[in-house]
Amino acid sequence: MRVLGIETSCDETGIALYDSEAGILADALYSQVELHAEYGGVVPELASRDHIRKVIPLIREVLDRAQCTPQQIDAIAYTAGPGLVGALMVGAAVAKSLAFAWGVPSFPVHHMEGHLLAPMLEDPAPSAPFVALLVSGGHTQLVNVKAIGDYEILGESLDDAAGEAFDKTAKMLGLGYPGGPRLAARAETGNPQRFKFPRPMCDRPGLQFSFSGLKTFCLNTKEACEQSPTGLTEQDVADICWAFQDAVVETLAIKCRRALQQTGVKQLVIAGGVSANLRLRERLQEVVAKLGAQVFYPQLRYCTDNGAMIAYAGYQRVLAGAVPDLNVQVRARWPMSELKAEA
Ligand code: KG4
Ligand code: ZN
Repeated sequence: MRVLGIETSCDETGIALYDSEAGILADALYSQVELHAEYGGVVPELASRDHIRKVIPLIREVLDRAQCTPQQIDAIAYTAGPGLVGALMVGAAVAKSLAFAWGVPSFPVHHMEGHLLAPMLEDPAPSAPFVALLVSGGHTQLVNVKAIGDYEILGESLDDAAGEAFDKTAKMLGLGYPGGPRLAARAETGNPQRFKFPRPMCDRPGLQFSFSGLKTFCLNTKEACEQSPTGLTEQDVADICWAFQDAVVETLAIKCRRALQQTGVKQLVIAGGVSANLRLRERLQEVVAKLGAQVFYPQLRYCTDNGAMIAYAGYQRVLAGAVPDLNVQVRARWPMSELKAEA
């Protein structure tokens, strides 16, 4: 079976073709980073217009590269939420129109379920039950995955998502957009001994997160540096980046350990944009090793938004018996807890 995946929930147009025998046959990604950089963040209206410009050429490119004709496609999967509504509508409209024209079914996919299942494209792949840490620009969640579609949210962020905290802190430190990867790169030249930031909500039981206070901690530290005789130096910025990243990574690691202990599950999956963070990967590797568990993550290009995860999640839904429905409306907000396993 071949499934075409279309992702347009935010600032990346991602297209991929998944084949149930051969895996991903081809995928293409267009990032709008340069378009939004001068505004310091994603401008929704510009995002929608740019998806319109890119989505059809990228679909053509993927089909050409895979040497696949429309007649060889069995289904189309598209991100139906959560995300920017205008951006989602572009992908949904194109998916439904092509499905209608080609006479194939189309399936809505939950963006975070796409991230969640992305590690299953790798070898070795995790298999349910597993605990997933979803860390993206909009979400920080620990999920107990009992089966595909059967998700128990164990904990989530009460305020900023981990990626959002990276982005806001980077912006505050003048590192520009997109902040996460830039802050992580600057942290590499930071002095680990200089500052130690708190690990929010780790001193009490539970699996909830809160990252907004860390941002304030960074701001106060930055202002103290600015008032010193040397002013804010490049080294100060790098040292703050290190302390911030260390606090986020350690907090996520502590909660992952708790979630594995609490559930007794031996597989941990990390996915979403922040799972590209190499320090986080290293730290979680240590945590699971001590628990005799295993950690799985997507390859770097499938950590951030992409079409492959949508094609694959769509395939899993088809396999489980999902019924196509052309009347589905896209949703800006769509709690993952509302997802159900197919009957
Ligand atoms: O999953 P994603 O591409 O989009 C959403 O669904 O939100 O995640 C994007 C987020 C951004 O906040 C970005 O700064 C963060 O992932 N990110 C990183 C790294 N690469 C991307 N954060 C920390 N370290 C990284 N290496
Ligand atoms: Zn995402």
